[in-house]
Amino acid sequence: MSGFEYASAPESNAIANIANSYGLFINGKFVDPKKGKTFNTINPATEELLSKIGYADKLDIDLAVKSARLAFTKVWSKMPAKERGKYLYRIARIMQERAREFAVVETLDNGKPIRESRDTDIPLAAAHFFYHAGWADKLEYAGVGSKPKPVGVVGQIIPWNFPLLMLAWKIAPALAAGNTVVLKPAETTPLTALLFAQVCQQARLPEGVVNIVTGDGITGAALVNHPDINKVAFTGSTEVGKAIARSISATKKSATLELGGKAANLVFDDAAIDEAVEGIVNGIFFNQGHVCCAGSRLLLQENIADELLEKLKKRMSLIRVGDPMDKNTDLGAINSKEQLNRIHEISNTGDAEGAKRWSPECKLPSKGFWYPPTIFTGVSQSHRIAREEIFGPVLSVLTFRTPAEGIEKANNTMYGLSAGIWSDKGSKVLWAAKQLKAGVIWSNTFNKFDPASPFGGYKESGWGREGGRHGLAGYLTSEARVSK
Ligand code: NAI
Ligand code: MG
Repeated sequence: MSGFEYASAPESNAIANIANSYGLFINGKFVDPKKGKTFNTINPATEELLSKIGYADKLDIDLAVKSARLAFTKVWSKMPAKERGKYLYRIARIMQERAREFAVVETLDNGKPIRESRDTDIPLAAAHFFYHAGWADKLEYAGVGSKPKPVGVVGQIIPWNFPLLMLAWKIAPALAAGNTVVLKPAETTPLTALLFAQVCQQARLPEGVVNIVTGDGITGAALVNHPDINKVAFTGSTEVGKAIARSISATKKSATLELGGKAANLVFDDAAIDEAVEGIVNGIFFNQGHVCCAGSRLLLQENIADELLEKLKKRMSLIRVGDPMDKNTDLGAINSKEQLNRIHEISNTGDAEGAKRWSPECKLPSKGFWYPPTIFTGVSQSHRIAREEIFGPVLSVLTFRTPAEGIEKANNTMYGLSAGIWSDKGSKVLWAAKQLKAGVIWSNTFNKFDPASPFGGYKESGWGREGGRHGLAGYLTSEARVSK
């Protein structure tokens, strides 16, 4: 590597007061799981044990749902809306006050760079609570009639890629609408949800309004199948999303499912190339590529492909991979050994099927789970790396000749979560956006999020929307439906 080396600038972990063990958060208190079972959560950058976590089974889920039901009928759904709003504002403010602590715990448990948890995950999570606090007493404008009602008790299951942010996407609208929740964080990243449980205590949120149950897929399935929940809100793999859809199909439960993606990032030949390169890097290497809406399929107009790829490789050589707690780090650890194995497995099919792999020279730490930033060129639409979600720092590059061919290739996927368009011409951007089958489309930027903006997909990317008025509506029902 040429030029100056950065001195390391590690964030201190002194602020992260991680306990040796955590119970389940049920009815406002931390309690041991009935059968006393636990599992470990580790730091994926070092493989060190962070804490022992309570493992919830059916009995614990039942207690959590009962506590949520009682809180729903006796307290939360009866409370004047503006009072509910005050609790959400209070939670948002405490999250801001404790932002550094949240950021450090998130990075230790997840492996993402501290720069990202500090500047993206935690501020956006607080912003979701602020945004929905404002909605609490204005629900009649949410688009579900003049007297909307909460749906009841909601079972929420979230993944490991944005642990606190996904919690906020789920809990903030549910509570604003007057529902109570039982939330299950992912098994590799439970810590910020447990810290959030402490925030609920600090905010004196009435007992049982928020319950946090930790465990794995079996715990999640027990929550989905509990007879007394009214709605399931899930973010995770398409495979599990389909299983959930099947298991609630003969019930009255409703569901929002936020699933996978294989987003096309389309660069037309009139695009500003340097800006596009930054957007491509952000689109696939942000959060190690563990992003459902990642721009994982780069579609380049053929006449600019060589120039752009050269610039992209140069830019990728500057990506700093390593200690997530270092404030200079761009690409942190892969969240788990299982995920690393999945990235290897799918990426290796790229080599086997004839695509050309390139990674910049970079030294990976010896402990922990790591994957270098990688691009594959010469990818065709039939390759597995062009069709399946790799969920890692791996970009598949395809080319197109005419704009129409670009759109056709972009839409040739079972997913439809997001897309990016890079062009200097507003008319071309609008023309392309109109034809792309994707729930979120960014123009001359990528991976921008806002609580007011609905998020969600077409086809196998899921059902429903989260965020904004549309997401809120998913937690409400019109009076007519409730009174039946
Ligand atoms: P997953 O879908 O198995 O896990 C997500 C959450 O669902 C976790 O909390 C998990 O405990 C829970 N869960 C697992 N099985 C369940 C079941 N039968 N019923 C209810 N809840 C269940 O995802 P996993 O195994 O962590 O990752 C596998 C692949 O899924 C990744 O490689 C990636 O491609 C994709 N994925 C996509 C995400 C997205 O945001 N679109 C997030 C996480 C994973
Ligand atoms: Mg962990």
